[in-house]
Amino acid sequence: MNFANKLLKWYRHNARQLPWRDTGDPYKIWLSEIILQQTRIAQGTDYYLRFINRWPTVEALARATEDEVLRMWQGLGYYSRARNLLAAAREVAKLGQFPADVAELRKLPGVGPYTAAAIASFAFNLPHAVVDGNVFRVLARHFNISTPINTSQGQRLFTTLANQLLPPHHAAAYNQAIMDFGAMVCTPAAPKCDICPMAMTCQVLAAHNVEQRPVKQPLAQKQTRHISYLLIICHNHTAIRRRPAGDIWQGLWEPPMYENEPVPGFDGQLIPLRQNVRHVLTHRIIIADFHLLVTDRRPDLPGEYIWVPLDRIDDYGHSRLVELLLQSARLALP
Ligand code: ADE
Repeated sequence: MNFANKLLKWYRHNARQLPWRDTGDPYKIWLSEIILQQTRIAQGTDYYLRFINRWPTVEALARATEDEVLRMWQGLGYYSRARNLLAAAREVAKLGQFPADVAELRKLPGVGPYTAAAIASFAFNLPHAVVDGNVFRVLARHFNISTPINTSQGQRLFTTLANQLLPPHHAAAYNQAIMDFGAMVCTPAAPKCDICPMAMTCQVLAAHNVEQRPVKQPLAQKQTRHISYLLIICHNHTAIRRRPAGDIWQGLWEPPMYENEPVPGFDGQLIPLRQNVRHVLTHRIIIADFHLLVTDRRPDLPGEYIWVPLDRIDDYGHSRLVELLLQSARLALP
């Protein structure tokens, strides 16, 4: 019996009874998955039942106010989930139904790759593998994979493998099975290898290395960088350059930026906009000062800069931090 069939057989005898399991209603499945994103099953089940009781359909939820939804969400934390929940419900109500397509599901606020695969498979039995913490762990152990799970290479590798293992006609049961198996047998601590139905083919068990999988890359200490931006406005034009390779924001456009050096003194009126704006990136913390220079004469800048009309700046992809700078400048200008 192959990997999937063994799991499915185990699941037939061991499935957890969860209130969103015996339904194909994409609304109930979506709601349960959003609640369970950062919440344990016991607590999540409580909230799920209260939501379904108050708003039995996506149309009913779409008619709720944000205050009502936030109040119902109280205690679950990560409140952007609740706001996205309502926004997504309203989009689905406008569409008339949940789309039976992962790419379309992904467009709903708050629906990432995991949630889209969960809805597509549980509600529509479409062949998309879910990849959550359980799946990473089960696959990393069974196939003794040492690629760190928290890297883009790891994400790709595990997603590809998960989809190869997925039996296309049993996507819903298989996805539920691997999650339950990870939660009940192949647990993070003290996995139950002695009763495991997959032990015969488990490569990490054969290598006596179970506790060493999955591998996670240690999170690097975030380095802090202090920078100053100078947004120059000269006859409704502004100077930007494209950021080079080998650093953050590669390929994005930005106004002159000074790091570990003061903003040069150019002709014109220098207006301080904001100080110590804290911006957190995946591997860096940026502390930024924003300055505005209004001038009649284009200052001498290195050749890589181009001058573009201010009202075309959105044609030049830029970071969220530069967007903040532009917003601050708009507020400061008459
Ligand atoms: N955790 C998140 N979604 C789940 C599901 N559908 N079944 C079991 N555990 C889950």
